[in-house]
Amino acid sequence: MWLRDCWQAAAYSSEIEHALFPRRLLDEPVVFYRTSAGAVVALADRCAHRALPLSLGRLRGDDVQCGYHGMCFGADGQGRFVPGQDSLPNGAHVKTYPVVEKHKMVWIWMGDPARADESLVPDIHYFDDPGWAPVFGYHRIDADYRLLNDNLLDLSHESFVHVETIGNSYVADSPVVARIVDGTVRAHRFMQNCDPPPFYVRAAGFEEKIDRWHTTIYTPPGLCVIENGSMPAGADKSFARERRVINMMTPETATSTHYFWGTARSYDLDNAELDEYIRSQTHTTFDQDKVILEAQQRSLGPDPEYAFPVAIKVDSGPILGRRLLAAAIEAEQNASQLASV
Ligand code: FES
Ligand SMILES: [Fe+2]
Repeated sequence: MWLRDCWQAAAYSSEIEHALFPRRLLDEPVVFYRTSAGAVVALADRCAHRALPLSLGRLRGDDVQCGYHGMCFGADGQGRFVPGQDSLPNGAHVKTYPVVEKHKMVWIWMGDPARADESLVPDIHYFDDPGWAPVFGYHRIDADYRLLNDNLLDLSHESFVHVETIGNSYVADSPVVARIVDGTVRAHRFMQNCDPPPFYVRAAGFEEKIDRWHTTIYTPPGLCVIENGSMPAGADKSFARERRVINMMTPETATSTHYFWGTARSYDLDNAELDEYIRSQTHTTFDQDKVILEAQQRSLGPDPEYAFPVAIKVDSGPILGRRLLAAAIEAEQNASQLASV
């Protein structure tokens, strides 16, 4: 159920300092820290000796010393020394993971390090592009990351889950068109002559009827960029106020997910009050999703092979997304089997 040979969001750059920072990713314990030169390091968070999480130890310069018997490991994962003896035993090393910092995020490659190509880091330039004003957040969700992908590829739920912020009946009542384009799923909906939901009144300044759209662009395994905007009903797009919602879902375990999100707008860029409004409203909106997704996961149970026997029209995006993801995972597993023959 996981794609490994890809960059996945591991942390905000701001989270990683010269201190040990543990985070479980794809059910592997990882410890991050920043060296004194500023480079981000990711090591297996499990001592080679007796498996104590290294994150319970301490930094000695740019090395990590285990908090149990003091074995020391460098940023390259190699053992440095063992207190009380002159030699290192065989196997005195821990796994390292390729990491890259880009667009204010730390990205990790959980698969074959030989395939880690920095040019493949997802483009979320909205986080550091001067033409956009972003706000950021994080939710830990006790649900399979694929349920979040489904949720973001079918935004009809705004009409039922998010009526206090971004939703009203116009969303679910407008048809969605989903298709696969260049290795992504694009699920698009255009809503005409709608009442503006509360968020659209305050964040975009529209009190009368609006036309609005959203397009979720899903890239496996867990990136959904939602292009959205609104304008006075009947106006052309030059009158639109546009935002991008960047959603990065990285599995923690089979049934829990690190959900990194940001909302960027291309208007009213230097408005701190609007920043805070959008941040708090987005947080509230995703709090509502968290309730739904965690209840859905409890209802499904822990079996990752669950199936949904009933499909309705709004499932077209999630179905294509699942199909694309499954094909990518299968291709990766076939390639690694061939390589091992
Ligand atoms: S468990 Fe780490 S040094 Fe013993
Ligand atoms: Fe939602």
